[in-house]
Amino acid sequence: MKEIVLSGIRPTGNLHLGNYYGAVQNFIKLQDSYNCYFFIADYHSLTTHPHPDDLHGRVKQILVEYLAAGLDPEKATLYVQSDVPEVVELYLFLNMNAYIGELERVTTFKEKVRKQPDNVNAGLLTYPTLMAADILIHKSNYIPVGKDQEQNLEKARDFAERFNRIYGIDYFPVPQAFNFGNELIKVPGLDGSGKMGKSEGEGNAIFLYEDDKSIRKKVMRAVTDSGPTEPNQVKPEPIQNLFNLMKIVSKPETVQFFDEAYNNMSIRYGDMKKQLAEDIIQMVTPFRERINELSSNDEYIKKVARMGAEKAHESASKTIKEVREIIGFRSF
Ligand code: TRP
Repeated sequence: MKEIVLSGIRPTGNLHLGNYYGAVQNFIKLQDSYNCYFFIADYHSLTTHPHPDDLHGRVKQILVEYLAAGLDPEKATLYVQSDVPEVVELYLFLNMNAYIGELERVTTFKEKVRKQPDNVNAGLLTYPTLMAADILIHKSNYIPVGKDQEQNLEKARDFAERFNRIYGIDYFPVPQAFNFGNELIKVPGLDGSGKMGKSEGEGNAIFLYEDDKSIRKKVMRAVTDSGPTEPNQVKPEPIQNLFNLMKIVSKPETVQFFDEAYNNMSIRYGDMKKQLAEDIIQMVTPFRERINELSSNDEYIKKVARMGAEKAHESASKTIKEVREIIGFRSF
């Protein structure tokens, strides 16, 4: 039997090139060789927003964009967390063996306490238990998560081991982080520093839904400097980032052309950005078209969500039935 890979996606923000070349491309590869569960974590939204703005619309948008990017509902199980309420029952069971002290020590919790001091709710404290329930409901083996989620995954491992120990049964596999190591492509942002992300400001990221005009505008505004002052100079960070972005979306000849121009000091950043913008547009256009197509195909989206819910429900209800028996619940 194939091993199980699972990941949750928060329904916030749209897919940008950074997400695409990072997480999404890896999901696409994984769906070919593992039994994959990818879901939209809409329950989790309530920990920060008791009344989320257009929750359904956001969930749909995420589903549409991940499908447009290449997640295949025939290969992976794509579902919405709230379509599988068995997760909530497992969350309850896990919470009975989760201790306040350990939950309070989780750094993401401490951060949230700082960020929203007037809404330190129990859901926020038990975020790691809900995440563990997401993972354990399908008895997942591997979780592809970023650095920021490592501690939450660590808690899921603790809860799995604890369940097995308390009930004296080797039931839940202890989930491992899926490490991509060097395969992870880092996409630099347009602000000259670090990586592409929406939290660094709107202009820093290029989204898959974006139109040509807006892409050109953003790329032309990317941070540069006044140009090289001597031949073969080491590139300062913002310039290196622009080249790195170009390496991802442009042809090798194009990169080489501008690299040589940089080295012999004839480079014009305006020309380079124009080229970069056109190459990004080339890359993004088919995604934007698919996003638009899918967005207006409610029938198809409904079909995908139903199919995912059904497959996820099948696996989740099996787990819940077994967990109930293990703990000692029996129906009369
Ligand atoms: N906490 C994850 C994030 O913020 C989302 C998530 C929820 C998740 N449940 C999960 C990730 C289970 C992996 C496995 O990105």
